[in-house]
Amino acid sequence: MSPPTPPQPLNALWTPTAPDLLVAGDNLAVLRALPEASMQLVYLDPPFNTGRTQKRRTTRSVRDPEGTYLGFSGESYTRTVEALSSYDDAFADYWAFLAPRLIEAHRVLRDDGTLYLHLDWREAHYAKVALDALFGRECFLNELIWAYDYGAKAKSRWPTKHDTILVYVKNPAAYWFNSEAVDREPYMAPGLVTPEKAARGKLPTDVWWHTIVPTAGPEKTGYPTQKPLGVLRRIIQASSREGDWVLDPFAGSGTTAAAARALGRRSISIDQHPDALRIASARLGLPITPFAG
Ligand SMILES: C[S@@+](CC[C@H](N)C(=O)[O-])C[C@H]1O[C@@H](n2cnc3c(N)ncnc32)[C@H](O)[C@@H]1O
Repeated sequence: MSPPTPPQPLNALWTPTAPDLLVAGDNLAVLRALPEASMQLVYLDPPFNTGRTQKRRTTRSVRDPEGTYLGFSGESYTRTVEALSSYDDAFADYWAFLAPRLIEAHRVLRDDGTLYLHLDWREAHYAKVALDALFGRECFLNELIWAYDYGAKAKSRWPTKHDTILVYVKNPAAYWFNSEAVDREPYMAPGLVTPEKAARGKLPTDVWWHTIVPTAGPEKTGYPTQKPLGVLRRIIQASSREGDWVLDPFAGSGTTAAAARALGRRSISIDQHPDALRIASARLGLPITPFAG
């Protein structure tokens, strides 16, 4: 057995020609160690705000103490977060966690790059307002709805069976988007189109019906919040090219990196939980690289 890799600063490890990386550590510190404008695509699937953490924090805590806060409109950002904070303490706490990571994710995006933020119905609407302020409204590309139909259904309201993925581009005049490369899907009414069109399938819209990871399928890793490869495939196909770098700061079981590799992209995965790192390492066949900070 080879000895464990000693912790190293990421900038000593990562270069544009480096192999795929699976990094153990707090993603904020790792993100800060990545060079500006180095990633084509950043996908973030943070733990959902369950409302259990109610500790009040001031809006000041979301500002970057290191001064790497570049390119955003400081005034509108501060005002937006203050307004949201006074409205909902639980969101303020969640936002205090997420905002510095989104600021770094924006910083490491290339000029033609795209950010995907995967959330559930509890915070998607707050995050949309906050991201508009961080990126600029003109950088909003899409609100994707991933709809699934699984599990128990509430009887006292419409059962909530969707996640929201907010899509923002770094530069609305320069971003990469290749709809031709995206996996197509069956028409809902194939009889209404020509047989050729029906055979080719249609381009997905911003509402994606896609099953959750099947409980008994080969894709299942056992990680509780694992996302389907099919959802990540579409994202990566549309917003990156072969050879591009894809970054997932909340990697979990390594779904983004697995999809990226199958599509010929390179990837950096970050997580801090030992179970996630163990599962992702086995899934991707990558060593776990500890981050020294
Ligand atoms: C919703 S899961 C991601 C699931 C993943 N998309 C997949 O398909 O398996 C969120 C992950 O973020 C990780 N995480 C939470 N906070 C983190 C932090 N500050 N730094 C690094 N990882 C973190 C958790 O350990 C968890 O594995």
